[in-house]
Amino acid sequence: MNILILGSGGREYSIGLAISKETEEHNLYFMPGNGATDNLGTNINIKDYNELASWSKENRIDLTIVGPEAPLVDGVVDIFKENGLTVFGPSKAAAQLEGSKVYMKNILKKYNIPTAAFIETTNEKEAHDFIDTMTAPIVVKADGLCGGKGVIIAQSKEEAKEAASDMLAGTSFGDAGTSIVVEEFLDGYELSIFAICDGENYKVLPAAQDHKRIGDGDTGPNTGGMGAYAPTPLVNDDIYKKVEERVIKPTLEGMKQEGAPFEGVLFIGVMVVNGEPIILEYNVRFGDPECEILMPLLETPVSELFYKGATKQLDKLDIKIKDEFGVAVVMASANYPYGSSEPAEIIVDDIVDEDILNNTHISYAGVSKEDDKLFATGGRVLLCVGFGDSIKKARDRAYALCGQVHFAGKKIRTDIAYQALK
Ligand code: AMP
Ligand code: GLY
Repeated sequence: MNILILGSGGREYSIGLAISKETEEHNLYFMPGNGATDNLGTNINIKDYNELASWSKENRIDLTIVGPEAPLVDGVVDIFKENGLTVFGPSKAAAQLEGSKVYMKNILKKYNIPTAAFIETTNEKEAHDFIDTMTAPIVVKADGLCGGKGVIIAQSKEEAKEAASDMLAGTSFGDAGTSIVVEEFLDGYELSIFAICDGENYKVLPAAQDHKRIGDGDTGPNTGGMGAYAPTPLVNDDIYKKVEERVIKPTLEGMKQEGAPFEGVLFIGVMVVNGEPIILEYNVRFGDPECEILMPLLETPVSELFYKGATKQLDKLDIKIKDEFGVAVVMASANYPYGSSEPAEIIVDDIVDEDILNNTHISYAGVSKEDDKLFATGGRVLLCVGFGDSIKKARDRAYALCGQVHFAGKKIRTDIAYQALK
């Protein structure tokens, strides 16, 4: 197939890498891709979605996979479908599950899906009055997309009121915050569960755990995610079953009733509280870094999974997962997540140890290429991914690879998967 992947991160690289390892040969295109995706295929740069759809028709693209949320919320899937193209991802209407936290919370409420008690409001007094009825910590969320930064966990009522006022006034998150959600704090452990959906049918992937804070022991500011592993032993059949019955099925049914059937990746942010899965949020795409371990754990060809997802044939697919564990450690630039960093050349040592060579790989994210050399260009630069028949083995291999990859200012967490190894 000719396959186009939208996005430029480690997530999109990992989808491309998995497809490039399939037995069947495919031609890969990335829009815009990064300095390493052009080793897997061809990077193109057509930002306008209508022009991109025309290009896709001319170049006989058989399947388009959309990585990040922004193009989905902007309606790229609708434009591609209007052009008769096969595309895997939710419509603009269904992408509101991520595009608007108010929309998402109202869907959860309407279809009785377990979530934190909340109000949504555009009114400062209403927010403050609700906060007065709560006990800290209190969670205040901006409605719109904020690149993962629109959530404040306030440690006092005063702090919660200030956060609510700042959001509503537009000072903290601009238009994304003129509507807010105030909700109760859930105390438990977080899981990332992904359901591949075709509007009717779904397939659940092994549960993963992300590590959102920059520092070891979950300290410091939030990031896009500093590492992930799967499958996590913190989930059992009971939790999977509850997530399917109480969350995935009513959501897919509900979205049909709303006239916005959900196709694409439903990313379910779960907090497990006393053994009960409670929904923190939905995203409408793969998590990054979760994708970087889930793609290589799939035995089913990734292109087939997404193609069947895009063409309502998931009921005809028997999804197979490898019987092993994956751990991904993010290497970020010196100033991440505070600011940009100077470009730095990336050197990967020749890896002679067969064990590491055969059970690891790198997924590239924030990199550019010049004269055949790769440079770290800031943010999350790359991920060292390790595999093994235990989480510990997978993690040791991932960290062994980390020791072989160098660039000025490289920054990692040293405790990825700690919750599984406690
Ligand atoms: P969200 O963008 O809604 O996933 O929020 C970002 C992060 O904030 C989540 O991954 C959680 O770690 C945390 N969070 C969000 N909502 C809550 C909540 N109600 N209780 C506790 N933590 C939360
Ligand atoms: N890893 C969390 C996210 O992609 O939002």
